[in-house]
Amino acid sequence: MKAILLAGGIGSRIWPLSQAVNKHLLPVFDKPMIYYPLTTLMLAGARDVVLISSKTHLFSFKTLLGDGSQWGLRIRYSVQEKPDGIPAAFSLVPADFLNEPVILMLGDNLLYGAGLGESLQERQNLDGALAFGYWVSNPSDYGVIDFNELGRPIKIREKPKDSKSNYAIPGLYFFDKSVYSKVGHLKPSLRGELEITDLLSAYMLESKLHIEILQRGTAWLDTGNARNLLSAGEFVRVIEERQGLKIGSPEEVALRLGMVDKEKFLANLHEMPSGEYRNYLEKLVF
Ligand code: G1P
Repeated sequence: MKAILLAGGIGSRIWPLSQAVNKHLLPVFDKPMIYYPLTTLMLAGARDVVLISSKTHLFSFKTLLGDGSQWGLRIRYSVQEKPDGIPAAFSLVPADFLNEPVILMLGDNLLYGAGLGESLQERQNLDGALAFGYWVSNPSDYGVIDFNELGRPIKIREKPKDSKSNYAIPGLYFFDKSVYSKVGHLKPSLRGELEITDLLSAYMLESKLHIEILQRGTAWLDTGNARNLLSAGEFVRVIEERQGLKIGSPEEVALRLGMVDKEKFLANLHEMPSGEYRNYLEKLVF
């Protein structure tokens, strides 16, 4: 399965944290932010990933993630020159992505919950698009879905000021191959960007938008501003320390999903300095 991981933008809401370091490389407790959406994609069945970011920061991403083969992945990179909206990413993918279904994930979204991995894997032969709904107290900060009395989506808007619905749309979307032609018909919004909500609306108008409500036991954490970033780090720390298990480790996910064998896993560990992260991973196989 192919996937796009978006790690562009200037991170205006957390400036100056994002001045010298790309926002998606900042720490969420003990790992770079990008590890969390990347491992969600791995759990969802993605094996061929294109990471999109600005030219200035691509080198750091390549240093961190390489070509992905250490985790049984293929990772390629593409440059987004200017932030002209999430759907613009579809025009930046390698040619072999076209005419195939694709998962899109925003690099600052952190999703965590029991059974999430399995439930995402069942989504691969989709006709149409799939997005999620998640009850939040501040829907106006996100893309929002309104439902009719039958529970069908009837309206999708980007950051509406007057939202009656509390269902925000997290940054994880599954699309069938028609996404590439649909993106070609989108027009920029008033803020001059292509909007992900308009793309989802295009599917909705064809009755091909599936919305799944994430259970309230699922955590969807936003890392878009400094306060949320700190909360996400605290959340990860609390769960990890309580359980002694890590969230969002690509090495662990690759091992557990059989994307690398034990030999390859151990070879990767030898490349790492000794420390808490390596000690944790060693315990998984010894
Ligand atoms: C983006 C999308 C929005 C979505 C959100 C999820 O907004 O435009 O629809 O709900 O991500 O994180 P942003 O937070 O980048 O402004």
